[in-house]
Amino acid sequence: MKLTKLISVLFLVALIAIQSKAAALGIEPQSSSKQAYVTLLFGDEYVLGARVLGKSIRDTGTTKDMVALVTNGVSDYSKELLKADGWIVEPTSLLKNPNQARAKRYWGVYTKLKIYNMTTYNKVVYLDADTIVVKNIEEVFKCQKFCANLKHSERMNAGVLVVEPSDAVFKDMLSKVDTLYSYTGGDQGFLTSYYSNFPNAQLFDPNIPEEVMKSRPAPQMERLSILYNADAGLSFINNKWKVDKSDFRVIHYTIGPFKPWDWWTYWLMEPVGVWQNIREQLDESLPGTGGGKNPNDELRVKFLSLFPVCALLFCFYRAFRQIGGLHFKTSLFNKIRHLYHILGSSGTVAYTSVSSSTTTNPNSEVPAYLSAVSVFVCLTSFVVSLAISISIVPRQVTPWTGLLLTYELTFTIFFLLFGAFLHLVYQWGKTANQSGPIASRTDSFDYDSRKGYQRQASSCDIVTWSYGLGMVLLSVAVPSVPYIFGITDRLWM
Ligand SMILES: *[C@@H]1O[C@H](CO)[C@@H](O)[C@H](O)[C@H]1NC(C)=O
Repeated sequence: MKLTKLISVLFLVALIAIQSKAAALGIEPQSSSKQAYVTLLFGDEYVLGARVLGKSIRDTGTTKDMVALVTNGVSDYSKELLKADGWIVEPTSLLKNPNQARAKRYWGVYTKLKIYNMTTYNKVVYLDADTIVVKNIEEVFKCQKFCANLKHSERMNAGVLVVEPSDAVFKDMLSKVDTLYSYTGGDQGFLTSYYSNFPNAQLFDPNIPEEVMKSRPAPQMERLSILYNADAGLSFINNKWKVDKSDFRVIHYTIGPFKPWDWWTYWLMEPVGVWQNIREQLDESLPGTGGGKNPNDELRVKFLSLFPVCALLFCFYRAFRQIGGLHFKTSLFNKIRHLYHILGSSGTVAYTSVSSSTTTNPNSEVPAYLSAVSVFVCLTSFVVSLAISISIVPRQVTPWTGLLLTYELTFTIFFLLFGAFLHLVYQWGKTANQSGPIASRTDSFDYDSRKGYQRQASSCDIVTWSYGLGMVLLSVAVPSVPYIFGITDRLWM
């Protein structure tokens, strides 16, 4: 009798020791929580979104699991990063989309149905990677079988789902994937068909007492309030939220090309500010990833911000060599003196006399269409520069980095393009002038020397200089306009 007692005590002690060791090794937590937040990633583009989502979930104080289902489009580095952020990374295979004709981004979306196969959990809250949680949403785990939002009239939005994983339901769904109609060609349309009675579902009420809930038969589906899936895209179109912002639980950045991680959306859509605030607070889970930074992007940003400086130095160096070392100083001095003269006497008279002398000159070779062409080239160069800049600046940099870098690059590329055009015109004018009558050339030289201004072979004249200075002033003034008018926040408030 005593011996068996002793053995059982020893056995118990051994058991406890093994268990505590297992817990210390981190083996146990797998089953510690029966509920989880889940997101799904197909590639690296949405990883920053998932990081911000994860931080927003953790900030609500939850201790539930966070599971990221990742397909093979997600790189190993991104998986490491997500793990370091506290996600449980679960590789999963793509569930093929039966609707073949669809666009590329729809190829894998049926994979979302795999949340029904996560049967180690008794409830999962699925959140798209382009959502953030702005208030504790633990109460939605009270949803019984299936909860979603109703949007766009009778259709549901699958960005936020509460699901009770079930082998039976998952198998049933897989058997119907090929036959059920999907109005989106994706999972959302499929779920709309699968839960065909959803528009009649009752509204989920988190405040019903547990006893009352248990006394009723569990509803097959419930509708979530719009606060659990506030549509930032619709708010953008309507230019304001229709509900009180402070009540939101989950914000969903729906509009296609305007995802919150694209730097320019911050300057267009007010709700992106909330997202960027969380992004800024991201931990440095892996080296160089604090604040949502990406080591590769950082390198590119450094290179791109140095490029304009180098381009400017190069142009300066070329101009310096063309004009020729010492000569440059004297010619610059001459120009300043000339400018002083013009301003000192009546500048306008001097200017009109210059322009009239060129227009009235019968031998003038400047064709009338040149100014029209110049304006056209100028505008085209600007549009092209802007397009190039936007396409080479990494998309997921912070809004300020994106704005300043794009500005700097646009300016530089424009300077190069339009400068090349001006150079061509100059070369063309020089050859045309040389083949033209000699009389006109001596005339113009005479005219210049009368003013006491010696024309250098490749130096630009005073008008060009004033234009240049004007452009420089303008380029500095434009970005500071918001500050002058005190508009330091975004456009749409
Ligand atoms: C469902 O989950 C089980 C393990 O939990 C796995 O073996 C199976 O492959 C999954 N099914 C699909 C279609 O992914």
